[in-house]
Amino acid sequence: MTANAQSHSIAVFGAYGHTGRFVVARLCERGWRPRLCGRDGERLAALAAQWPGSDIQVAQADDPASLDDALAGCAAVLNCAGPFSDTTAPLIEAALRARIHYLDTAAEQQPVLTAFARYDADARATGIAVVPAMAFYGGLGDLLATAAMGDWIDADAVEIAVALDGWHPTAGTRITGARNTAKRLVIDEGALAEVASPSPSRDWTFPVPFGAQAVATVPMSEIALLSRHLRTRSARAYLDQGSLRDVRDPHTPAPVAADASGRSAQRFAIEAAVRRGTQTRRLGASGRDIYAVTAPLLVEAMERLLDGRSSARGVRAPGDAFDAGDFFAALAPEPLRLYLPQE
Ligand SMILES: NC(=O)c1ccc[n+]([C@@H]2O[C@H](COP(=O)([O-])OP(=O)(O)OC[C@H]3O[C@@H](n4cnc5c(N)ncnc54)[C@H](OP(=O)(O)O)[C@@H]3O)[C@@H](O)[C@H]2O)c1
Repeated sequence: MTANAQSHSIAVFGAYGHTGRFVVARLCERGWRPRLCGRDGERLAALAAQWPGSDIQVAQADDPASLDDALAGCAAVLNCAGPFSDTTAPLIEAALRARIHYLDTAAEQQPVLTAFARYDADARATGIAVVPAMAFYGGLGDLLATAAMGDWIDADAVEIAVALDGWHPTAGTRITGARNTAKRLVIDEGALAEVASPSPSRDWTFPVPFGAQAVATVPMSEIALLSRHLRTRSARAYLDQGSLRDVRDPHTPAPVAADASGRSAQRFAIEAAVRRGTQTRRLGASGRDIYAVTAPLLVEAMERLLDGRSSARGVRAPGDAFDAGDFFAALAPEPLRLYLPQE
């Protein structure tokens, strides 16, 4: 058993960030006691004032002792502080010392690949699960592809396509994007390979209101996850061109709350198509606000590790750690509506 398995305290690193706030709210809604962690004590205190029962711990990614204090007595740590190139390694190492599960929301590929390469053996030996990229980009596509596979043990091709009715990026998204100069990877001939430049585009038909869209190859953490558990000769991920323009435009504003929960009005659709020979299987999910929906994905994964519905240990992709169909059943029809895409 992991340390503090009976504790109701969950450490949220990056708690006052845009995504962290949704995660804190979701934890409270589900009866957990969030420990709000980050580097700015004043912002932590201001957030704690909104969530009676939460506690705060100032902690720095480059100060292991502060991370040990932050994780002490908690049942798991949810890392929402990106760029994850700065925070993944120190937080996983702290979770290993504390012997508690670790999950994060990385959209970058390299921190996810580093987690698999560097920490899998230690996490298995310690008896904890490390689940990187348990978020809209990354885990959701990985789970959709896994569910679409059904009883297939391998595939010729996996494609994940995202349509947004606009992408108003947070400061964290912008900083992470600007810092992420690593090569973008896809899967070709069964192995990770750099995406061709300029990145290829194609058309993809989503359900209304999106319809037919030009999409560009924008590989994010889902490719890193797929490469570690799903046998496929190729894998690609796409984003609609309008959203790509939004996120690249320095004038696009940050997301604005459209209701009391803080969710924006943004709509999304995400689809996985897996092909084997002449057969293709598809699964899609739609919903509202890619940042907000990350919170129920992350907390659902954490709960499955803590209540034993998943006994995954080591560094694991969501599609490998969880029963994908059962996972979606718990989150549909809110916050995710599942659908069968048309050919
Ligand atoms: N995969 C997905 O679908 C998905 C979804 C949501 C978010 N994300 C990722 O999550 C990250 C955060 O996004 P966001 O929208 O929440 O951004 P945000 O609102 O700007 O929040 C970022 C948070 O991370 C903290 N942080 C960043 N670097 C830190 C460090 N080295 N040490 C301690 N705290 C640090 C920030 O604290 P300070 O203000 O003190 O710097 C802030 O609390 C980004 O990397 C984003 O790409 C991914």
